[in-house]
Formats: sequence, structure tokens, C-alpha cells
Amino acid sequence: MIRVVVGGATGKMGSIICQSILRQTDMHLVGGIVSAAGGNVGKVIASGIVTIGDDAIEKALEHADVYVDVTSAGAAKRNLPIVARSDVNAVVGTTGMSKETMDEFSSIVNQHKVSAVVTPNFSIGVNVFWKVCGTLAAALPSYDVEIVETHHSMKKDAPSGTAKRAAEIIAGTTGADKMIYGRQGLVGARGREIGIHSIRAGDVIGEHTVIFAGNKERLELTHRAHSRETFAEGCLAAIRWVSGKKDGSVHTMEEVLGLC
Ligand SMILES: NC(=O)c1ccc[n+]([C@@H]2O[C@H](COP(=O)([O-])OP(=O)(O)OC[C@H]3O[C@@H](n4cnc5c(N)ncnc54)[C@H](OP(=O)(O)O)[C@@H]3O)[C@@H](O)[C@H]2O)c1
Repeated sequence: MIRVVVGGATGKMGSIICQSILRQTDMHLVGGIVSAAGGNVGKVIASGIVTIGDDAIEKALEHADVYVDVTSAGAAKRNLPIVARSDVNAVVGTTGMSKETMDEFSSIVNQHKVSAVVTPNFSIGVNVFWKVCGTLAAALPSYDVEIVETHHSMKKDAPSGTAKRAAEIIAGTTGADKMIYGRQGLVGARGREIGIHSIRAGDVIGEHTVIFAGNKERLELTHRAHSRETFAEGCLAAIRWVSGKKDGSVHTMEEVLGLC
């Protein structure tokens, strides 16, 4: 039985991941972490699994094999070092963390010989989308690349982690590594750059389009998430994959899905 603690248990993602874990026969939800400010807490406390507040995590981790983080960049920055130092493996879906935060986490994972999966997107479709982005960039290296991402109006970070990863993959293939985040005013002719545009509207779960445009044609690659269940399914796969691994490394969802 894999014993799991979910950080962000009352959130849009965390609540669906908790419900999915409760349906599995090989997993046991042993804890949930939320912030004291949460409006949704009562409902989850009724299930008897949730602890609240900044000291809650150490206690919840005492009986955990895997910790899942779907909180916020600030909360994850505080929680992830505690998880690795507690010798608990992690699955991290939270986005918007700095490179410094992730480098520090990797180094603690390595010191404590635990394992982690970190991904800005758990969905199988998006992981294939990233792979295809690399293939298209290699085939169309001189084409202009623009990335447009749309998410619900409550999303805290922009651009999305998924868009940033797509841009990194394309830049790594074509060498055009200048990122332009939106445009305004007298911007002049387009250079060798990747434009990234974030739309925040309504209840959109997540949409990403990469445009590869030449002078006489353009090719567009789009992924649309229809339900947060797609992320929860990928998260379950990551929990199973990382459980019991103790290799001191941070892994990608591509590795979990065998897409490398
Ligand atoms: N990797 C993926 O596939 C994927 C997919 C979707 C979203 N995400 C990312 O997952 C994260 C969460 O997204 P969401 O839409 O679920 O956000 P959300 O609805 O705002 O939920 C955030 C959760 O984090 C909790 N939280 C906030 N501060 C905390 C703290 N200091 N300690 C513990 N818990 C804390 C909140 O608890 P309270 O309610 O008590 O404040 C809430 O349960 C975001 O970074 C998002 O980009 C990733």
C-alpha cells in the first residue's frame, strides 16, 4: 500500500487528486495539508485526513511514502525541503517556482537519497505535445514560433509552466532562446525570438497552442485539457512510479510515461 500525503488538498487540483487516490486499491491517503486561510477546509476535515497550518507537514509526513505538492510556488518553496529532509519521496505539480528553488530542492533530494518527479503538467497529451514541439522545431528551424496559453481567471502564475517548458524545448532545438512575454507599443520587426502570450479567462482548465509560421504557411499544434482528471491520472502514475525509488534524483514525467 502506498501511503500518500497531498499538499494543497482543498485546491482545484488537490481535491481531485485526493478523490482519485481514495478510489485506488494500492494507495492510502494518510494526510492532506492546506493553508490556514482556506475557505474549503471544513469539508475536507470531515474526512479526518487534513491537517492545517505551517507545522502540519512534519507530522503528516511521519507515516507517508509519497508527498504530492499542488499548492503555490511560495508554499512549495517552504514545504519541499521539509519533505526531502523527512526522507519522503515527492511528486511535484506546482508551477511558478524559481530555478534557485528547484536547484535547492534537487540538492536536498540528492543529499537525502530520496526521489522526486517534478512536472508542470501531469497529462499524457501534454507530455506528447512537448515531444512533438521538439520534432517540429527541428523540422522547421527558421519558422517564427509563438506560444499562446489560456487558463482560468484564478491561475496565479504566468506564463504557465507548460508554456515555459514548450519554449525551453523549442529554444534548445533551434537556438532561438530569446523569450518575449507579450508585446506592446512600437515593437518593430520580429527578431529570432519566441513570443509567449498568456490569456486568463473564465474557467478554462488549460489550453496551449504553438504556432510555427513561415512566409507562406503556418502549422499550429494545440493541446486542450477537458478535465482536471487528466492531470490526476498522470499524478497517480507518478506516485506509483516514484514509490520505493530512492536514487537521490529528480525525474520528469517523460520518464514516468516512458517517452524519453
Ligand atoms: N502539474 C500539473 O499537471 C498541474 C495541473 C494543474 C495545476 N497545477 C499547478 O498546481 C498548483 C495548484 O493549482 P490549483 O489550481 O489547484 O490551485 P488552488 O485551487 O489555488 O489550490 C491551492 C491549494 O494550495 C493550498 N495552499 C496554499 N498555501 C498553502 C500553504 N502555505 N501550505 C499548504 N497548502 C497551501 C491551498 O489551501 P487553502 O485552500 O487552505 O488556501 C489549496 O488547497 C498551481 O501551481 C498550478 O499551476 C499543476
